[in-house]
Order: sequence, then structure tokens, then C-alpha cells
Amino acid sequence: MEPKSFTLTNRENMKITITNLGGRIVSIFVPDKDGALVDVALGYDDLKSYQKKNEPYFGAIIGRYGNRIASGKFNLDENVYQLEINNGPNALHGGSDGFHDKFWNVEQPNDKTLILTCFFADCEGGFPGNLKVKVVYSLTDNNGLQIDYLATTDKKTIINLTNHTYFNLNGVDSKTDILNHILTIEADKIVEIDKTSIATGALLSVTNTPFDFRKPTKIGDRIEENHEQLELGNGYDHTFVFDKLDGALEKAATVYSPKTGINMAVFTQEPGMQLYTGNFLTGKDKDGKNGNAYPFRSGFCLETQHFPDSPNHSNFPSTVLNVGETYESTTIYEFGIQN
Ligand code: BGC
Repeated sequence: MEPKSFTLTNRENMKITITNLGGRIVSIFVPDKDGALVDVALGYDDLKSYQKKNEPYFGAIIGRYGNRIASGKFNLDENVYQLEINNGPNALHGGSDGFHDKFWNVEQPNDKTLILTCFFADCEGGFPGNLKVKVVYSLTDNNGLQIDYLATTDKKTIINLTNHTYFNLNGVDSKTDILNHILTIEADKIVEIDKTSIATGALLSVTNTPFDFRKPTKIGDRIEENHEQLELGNGYDHTFVFDKLDGALEKAATVYSPKTGINMAVFTQEPGMQLYTGNFLTGKDKDGKNGNAYPFRSGFCLETQHFPDSPNHSNFPSTVLNVGETYESTTIYEFGIQN
């Protein structure tokens, strides 16, 4: 099948391109402080590049389970399930045949809405249950990209969906890293990781650590500090934990580029968000947009989600989806200008 692209526009001239391959966000054009449209999402000009081996999930819908599961193994009732091991000793982002690599059915009812659906068979990737998934991308008139995730199953399963867009609010064409971005995250804890980047089960307070983003702070200010968790993640690659009512759609983070004046607020219903600062980007891409090779830390992801390895930690919010229930979760990335 050939990947196709679809474009969403609104009256503020914002423009987002999405492909049916992995439901990936290919570009996000937003006005900067001078009114010029700037593309703030990393990706490729040629849609086929998204099928490359070791492609870093640019813009993709991630499932069935975003983030890591220890040894790719979990129990559900009396059954033990084994997933593909694709990241050190662990399973990451639904395996090599996850949502990011599927061709989704696409409907575009109007300029601002795209409805993607996909079916995942029982045992596919090792997960139980025939899963029907719907992801709706909507561009709001106040420059918000709203993502609604919905899913149902015919057998008890686990699910943790997210989006893996790498943002650079300086503009992808600026060829700069994201260390100048000023970030605020409304979280007072993170999920601790071990040397394989898997959750230990403990939550760590951010107080007096480089993970305290409760006040606006430059991403680059403390990223090289001597802190065990930063060393394990090769930078920020951690789930921030929100202390909030289950399921409330609330502001989780804001990021701002002093270069373009573009800011982005993230609203989510999820209890956590992975901040990933592109620590494994290598700068070896040959086919990035406009010749951009995407070097180390030239993009960041804010992946709203449940906690990593939840099926193996009863103290974490549950990621179980039962028959008869609908998994429903909304995240909004809202763009504006900060002077
Ligand atoms: C993970 C990183 C991983 C990256 C893959 C992120 O969601 O947290 O550890 O390297 O995805 O591109």
C-alpha cells in the first residue's frame, strides 16, 4: 500500500499534515511572532521514509502499549503474555509491528477533522483481544491539535496509547537543538527508571532535582547535571506524574521557544507524560525534511500516557481494558505566541 497524506487547516492558517501510515503527524505549521508559518514537527518529505528500520517513531500513534514493559511480560488473570522484546531486555511501543507501522483507514469529514480507524487481531504482537481503535485528530479554531483515542476489545487486555511527535518550536528548518526551550511541567514526581530504562515501581519527588519544572526552566539548564536518573536516561526520558482527579482534562505542561515566540500548552486526561528530549537522535538521517539530519536533542516529545510497565506494578493506575468498556482519552497540544 502507498502512504497518503491528508491536511487539516483552520481560519488562523494553521496547517497540519497527517499520513495514513502509522497515523503519523508529518508537519505542523503554526504562526510565529511575526506571523510567518513555521513547521514545528520533525519528519520526512518522502512518506516511505517512515517505514525505515530504526526510524524513531516520528509523529506516530503508539500502541497497543506506549512505553516499556519489563521483559515484555505481563499477567492478566491466570494468563501470562509474552510480547516482542525490542528495546534491550524490554518491550517498547507495541513492538515492531505496532500502531506506528500500520496503514490506518482515514475519513476526512471536514477541513479540521480526520478520523483514523484500525483493527488489531487477538494475539497480534502478543497482546490479547481483537482491538478496534479510533483516533480522531481535530484542529480547533484556537490553534489546538486535539487527539481523541478510543478503543474496544473482545477479550480483557491492556492498552496505553500516545502520540510520538518530536517538536522543535524553533522550527525544524532552524537546525537548532531544543535546549533553549523553556518548559513547565505541573508534576511533583517522576517514575524512577533503572539501567534498562524500565520503571522500578518507585515515584521520586522532583524537589531539588533537575526534574523540577514546576517553574518555567530552560530544558538545557540542568540536562548535563550529575544526577543518576539523567545518566540512566541519557537526558530526560522519564514519565512525569500528575496529581489530579482521574480522567480530568487538565493542563500538564507548557513549552516556549524564545527564538520564534511559539508556545505550546499540553492538556491531557492521562495520569502521566513522558518527557523525551531526543537523546537517541543521531543526526544520521539522510532524508529529513529539507535535508535536516535531526541531530542529538533536536526534538522533544511530550507523550501523554499511563505509567510505563503498569501491568507489573499494582500501585500504578491500571491499564486494563475490559470487554464492554471503551478506552477513551483526550490530549490537546495548543499553540500560541508568547512575547
Ligand atoms: C522513549 C525513548 C525511546 C524513544 C524511541 C521514547 O518514547 O521514552 O526511550 O528511545 O521513544 O524513539
